[in-house]
Amino acid sequence: MSSLVAYFSATGTTAHVANELARAIGADLFEIVPEQPYTAADLDWRDKTSRSSLEMNDEACRPAIVGHVDTMADYDTVFVGFPIWWYVEPRIIDTFLEAYDFAGTTVVPFATSGGSGLGKAPQRMATLAPGATVTEGRLLNGNPNADELRTWAQGATSC
Ligand SMILES: Cc1cc2nc3c(=O)[nH]c(=O)nc-3n(C[C@H](O)[C@H](O)[C@H](O)COP(=O)(O)O)c2cc1C
Repeated sequence: MSSLVAYFSATGTTAHVANELARAIGADLFEIVPEQPYTAADLDWRDKTSRSSLEMNDEACRPAIVGHVDTMADYDTVFVGFPIWWYVEPRIIDTFLEAYDFAGTTVVPFATSGGSGLGKAPQRMATLAPGATVTEGRLLNGNPNADELRTWAQGATSC
């Protein structure tokens, strides 16, 4: 059984927990890097004209990603991490999901946030990864330790 932890992080919070998770479960790690990095102004959710606001207002928006996981077919389980943006996954996660064939793969969402849960992210992600089993996932706020991450990851992938 082989696992990948793939994550997008605009300001480092999700990156930290993704690294911890990969280390705790011995998974490979892939950072979903935007072709155009997000500036602080891009991330201003109070500004209706900021890049993140415009992206999240457009369901069809698919920000470009740098790099590709050539060995995706080797993974049974792919943990997909992201910050919650406007109660769901950022559009770049949609770009990532549409870039691969996840049929037969277990996709486990995880996120960090200012307090919101995963909302409709797992359901949305399931529609973008046809044939995958997308689990309900979990918010990983508050720096969970390696034991907590391992226990959760094992439970998240069993039937
Ligand atoms: C554009 C934008 C929208 C956000 N929307 C939410 C939200 O709906 N609910 C929430 O709890 N936090 C929200 N946040 C806060 C982030 O989810 C939180 O700071 C997250 O931990 C950032 O992760 P990162 O450092 O990996 O980018 C938002 C942040 C940004 C930049």
